[in-house]
Amino acid sequence: MAFRFDPYSPDIDADPFPAYKVLRDEHPCFWSEEAGMWVLSRYDDVFNALTNWRTYSSAKGNLIDEFPGRAGSTLGSSDPPRHDRLRSLIQSAMTKRALDHVLEPARASCATHLGAIRDGDSFDFVNDIGSKITVDLLFYLFALPRDGAELVRDNAVLMVQTDPVTRQKNESHLAAFRWMADYAENLVQERKKNPGDDLLSNFITAEIDGEKLLDKEVQLTVTTLIMAGIESLSGFMGMFALNLADYPEARRALVADPSLIPDAMEESLRFNTSAQRFKRCIQVDTELRGQTMKAGDFVMLAYGSANRDERMFDNPDVYDIGRKPKRHLGFGGGVHSCLGAMLARVACQIVFEEFLKAVPEFTRMDEKLSWVPSSNFRSPQALRLMKG
Ligand code: HEM
Repeated sequence: MAFRFDPYSPDIDADPFPAYKVLRDEHPCFWSEEAGMWVLSRYDDVFNALTNWRTYSSAKGNLIDEFPGRAGSTLGSSDPPRHDRLRSLIQSAMTKRALDHVLEPARASCATHLGAIRDGDSFDFVNDIGSKITVDLLFYLFALPRDGAELVRDNAVLMVQTDPVTRQKNESHLAAFRWMADYAENLVQERKKNPGDDLLSNFITAEIDGEKLLDKEVQLTVTTLIMAGIESLSGFMGMFALNLADYPEARRALVADPSLIPDAMEESLRFNTSAQRFKRCIQVDTELRGQTMKAGDFVMLAYGSANRDERMFDNPDVYDIGRKPKRHLGFGGGVHSCLGAMLARVACQIVFEEFLKAVPEFTRMDEKLSWVPSSNFRSPQALRLMKG
């Protein structure tokens, strides 16, 4: 039977790695009928695409299944020079030093949510810990009103999903996008009237070379920041916790020496980043690995596969917290590399330090996990852990 790669398949959500290996070894530039786009899976090819935005453009959208009207108007879905200017407005708030002020609220949030699971024998890391702390952190950072936090979270979760049967966003996913866009629009109007000293206010009231940002650009970038912030971070924390459940030796090493947490986090980003695949659009006919990708064709960059490429990493299927994989693509790369990477690093260090202090020993309760149905992201919907 001819090889197929269907990023909508629940089997791929559950375990994409065998298919990635076939792609890399036998079809490094592959046309996926199901996705309607090319798939690049080798590290060098993905890296080359990331550093060559003139050929691999984001301006037609970077989500595999794009929302109507989003392409061209957000950071992730625009090309330089507009992209770089938009990015420069937020970047200074995302450096390690600028993020010092999140340390205390992050620890306070850990104390609350880890306190709530203290007395039970088991808990769900994704829904009791990772997602709750992420929401607290992002709400603090963006100075969002606390009421409605659950709704924001639920809609962010729905936004990253795709219907595995129709291979499209269904009405509930589109409704979540509209809800978030309205939520962002209300915020934008409110911050314009009463700007504060927070990341969103600074962005909303900014000008580029004396020119105001377009309303749509502001609204959709805020929408994306909330979605990307909440879903990518909480999804990744779930993946990191999963690795620590599956590799108890690694977990014990971190319990004994929490200064190893940053290295373990980088290895988890390499081994199974929550951000598995993003999209680009080819601008000029491009020959690659014996195939011709035509101008106008879409192409999927499979970061999750590049990170397991044996041409780049020794024993890539081994989870090794001593590896220090500096050039992994868990945060993407090039001009679009993740803007929230430092925030994610700072947050994970605190959360996993506190978590492993509170719960040093745990095991998975479910062998089979239920995965978020998404063509871009990969993370468990729940991760039930038994203490001890
Ligand atoms: C561990 C958690 C996270 C992971 C794995 C992750 C992953 C990624 C990846 C792979 C990209 C590149 C997308 C592309 O190539 O088109 C990206 C971009 C982006 N991420 Fe993250 N992300 C995380 C956390 C965050 C957080 C917490 C925020 C915001 C607070 C954020 C905001 C963004 C934004 C705005 C972009 C677009 C940047 C640009 O195009 O210049 N991310 N992220």
